[in-house]
Amino acid sequence: MPVLRNIGLLARCLDLGGQADIQEIRSAAIAWRGEKITWIGPEAEIPQSEAAEQRFDAHGKLVVPGLIDCHTHLAFAGWRADEFEQRLVGQTYEEIAKRGGGILSTVRATRAASADELLQHCLHILREMARLGITTVECKSGYGLSCESEIKILQTYKALQQKQPLTLVPTFLGAHTIAPEYKNDRTGYVELIVKEMLPAVATQKLTHICDAFLESVAFSAAETEQIFECAVAHGMRVKLHADQLSNHKGAERAAKFKALSADHLEHVSDAGVKALKASGTVAVLLPLASLYTQQPPLAAEKLRSAGVRIAIATDFNPGTAPSYHLPFAMTLACLLHKMTPAEVLKAVTINAAHAIGLANELGSLEAGKRADFALIDATDVNHWLYHCRANACLAVYKSGNRLNLA
Ligand code: NIG
Ligand code: FE
Repeated sequence: MPVLRNIGLLARCLDLGGQADIQEIRSAAIAWRGEKITWIGPEAEIPQSEAAEQRFDAHGKLVVPGLIDCHTHLAFAGWRADEFEQRLVGQTYEEIAKRGGGILSTVRATRAASADELLQHCLHILREMARLGITTVECKSGYGLSCESEIKILQTYKALQQKQPLTLVPTFLGAHTIAPEYKNDRTGYVELIVKEMLPAVATQKLTHICDAFLESVAFSAAETEQIFECAVAHGMRVKLHADQLSNHKGAERAAKFKALSADHLEHVSDAGVKALKASGTVAVLLPLASLYTQQPPLAAEKLRSAGVRIAIATDFNPGTAPSYHLPFAMTLACLLHKMTPAEVLKAVTINAAHAIGLANELGSLEAGKRADFALIDATDVNHWLYHCRANACLAVYKSGNRLNLA
């Protein structure tokens, strides 16, 4: 069976201890069989039974669990650089949305794109993500906003699972904003979601996670609850874009539905943080989106002191976070959310796995879990995130296979 030896420092990121507890081992080795890790520990202690048929050398570098980007809007067509400039000269995200730009401009382009065009766009980005050390990607729909085009996006994700090695976790986000056809009939659009979209998504088993955007430019609390009740009735878990641009008690709503995660949270209240703790909901912070929308980044201390699990993700989308560079988002998380590099590593591994409901399978390096890990050109986690580089990842192992990243 294969073994990776000569690991200078390995971070296990087990689901134990606090946010900063990444359980490092020096001079380590990992053995695996097929897709799963069979042994991990100090190289000097490797058991005879793990005698290697295939040896890989880590050359004394850092090994971390495969990174998990637990919040992306991967499938879209067209970019929005014009809005980037408009916001820089003083227009707000809400103003741009109200005149039909923002999410709706991406909806127009995405509806017009063929399934194959979307697939090629995603394939290209997933390949780039893999090179950065990412092995699992949550990917939302939400730029279709009709039954047909939301399903086109979710089917693209399904097809991608067979065409590339990374694990994809699709999420239904029909409740991203009100579809243009329903501009003057919000109730009609919510009905379309609950009566047609959710049943179709559930019957076709395209995903078991439902997300929504609770915000003045998107869905109200009552609408969000109606959609979540329907999702739960279909056996789905929920997540929420919560308290991003203003406080709508998003965290409280997410907690009420035992959401996997509440994401953004720039404007979360203390009561909202308490509610997340009580429901075991992961707080997903998105530093790129905080920066691009110029919202005040949430200080991690609010969550840390309450004992809420924190995850970090890119929020990759063409409006508020036009980057899939998770390691860059990790460095930004240190600086904007005031987290240590160790805390941030846990935020993109085991805690990110919790945010997508896969903590039993992924997110930490231990026997029985999937053999997903990245070899990083750094001596330790501090040095990796401090020395922000184009790409510090040297090699990626996904489900036990060393990926060809050339
Ligand atoms: O996560 N908040 C809502 N959705 C995205 C933005 C989508 C867009 O602007 O296209 C976000 O920031
Ligand atoms: Fe988002």
